[in-house]
Amino acid sequence: MAKLNFDQLLLVAISITCLLIQPSSAQLRQNYYSKICPNVESIVRNAVTQKFQQTIVTVPGTLRLFFHDCFVNGCDASVMVASTANNNAEKDSSDNLSLAGDGFDTVIKAKAAVDAVAQCRNKVSCADILTMAARDVISLAGGPSFVVELGRLDGLVSTAASVNGKLPQPNFNLNQLNSLFAANGLSQTDMIALSAAHTLGFSHCNRFANRIYDFGGRKGAIDPSLNQTYAKQLQGMCPRNVDPNIAINMDPITPRTFDNLYFSNLQQRMGLFTSDQSLADDSRSRPTVDTWAANSNAFNNAFIAAMTRLGRVGVKTSTALGNIRRDCSVFN
Ligand code: HEM
Ligand SMILES: *[C@@H]1O[C@H](CO)[C@@H](O)[C@H](O)[C@H]1NC(C)=O
Ligand SMILES: *[C@@H]1O[C@H](CO)[C@@H](O)[C@H](O)[C@H]1NC(C)=O
Repeated sequence: MAKLNFDQLLLVAISITCLLIQPSSAQLRQNYYSKICPNVESIVRNAVTQKFQQTIVTVPGTLRLFFHDCFVNGCDASVMVASTANNNAEKDSSDNLSLAGDGFDTVIKAKAAVDAVAQCRNKVSCADILTMAARDVISLAGGPSFVVELGRLDGLVSTAASVNGKLPQPNFNLNQLNSLFAANGLSQTDMIALSAAHTLGFSHCNRFANRIYDFGGRKGAIDPSLNQTYAKQLQGMCPRNVDPNIAINMDPITPRTFDNLYFSNLQQRMGLFTSDQSLADDSRSRPTVDTWAANSNAFNNAFIAAMTRLGRVGVKTSTALGNIRRDCSVFN
């Protein structure tokens, strides 16, 4: 065998280093549990369906929980961890944006159903259960069915401080949205597709009150990028100084259905947040909005691709960085 010279050795060293620092998402795969817990997907789906039959809020609650989990410290169920006397956890950040309790409950119920099967007990991560549950609520709400990659471990860290700056805000413009999503390895196309999650669920009035009252500090002004008819309806549902617990549907037309009406609403200037409306108002993203408003198959395919990439963000597959939590809300 020929001796390797210095350059060749360097190349080998670099290649090995690259392999080691490759994103661990490379190790996620479909059917990860096929030997470990063969029926895990149907067990989770049954538990999520039961929860869905009790309350429709399961759908948006679970989907948003998945997004927030992935954007803060990766998809590692760190968002599920409860605070203790010594640690203020992610979910109790001031930026927690009122995550619905039903999302947490969905994962806890599905985990209990999985762990009730002896072979599966403590073998399936909370992060994977959340991923499967987020997939399942989409099809339960009339959206597409798809296969998810699995094999995530649950994270060992969850702090409220880590949430700062990691989540998009409703007043973001396209540049701000793009840079935050890019920081998570997601493209503008992914960002637009994922924003359509706002075809479901609720928003509290205070998240958009600045658009319907005294916009830009001018008394009585309404955000000109908002459909003025829709703005009046929003004022009716969200009077000034309304009880901060009041929330309204984000999709005014089909709030319980996962569909591409989100994009037609944007074309009619009925995006609830500035972040939503900017997708139709910025010439860089408008063509995508128009395409998906007209073609639900194209939208569904883009959404599935984007959810798959979202599910790879910051995942942990090395036991140095994660484990399988026995209780999703408590570190082992
Ligand atoms: C693009 C930037 C985004 C911004 C600025 C944003 C912001 C918000 C805000 C302010 C709310 C209302 C929360 C409340 O008042 O309780 C909300 C709700 C929601 N968001 Fe987003 N979000 C974004 C992207 C996403 C993504 C990528 C997903 C999931 C894939 C998502 C899923 C949801 C869902 C399902 C709700 C309804 C929650 C419920 O009814 O409990 N959002 N979002
Ligand atoms: C969100 O944060 C607020 C303020 O820190 C806290 O009072 C509230 O309980 C948190 N909500 C959830 C669901 O953790
Ligand atoms: C405002 O919304 C109405 C439907 O509520 C629609 O007919 C109208 O075209 C919209 N206006 C604009 C400027 O998009």
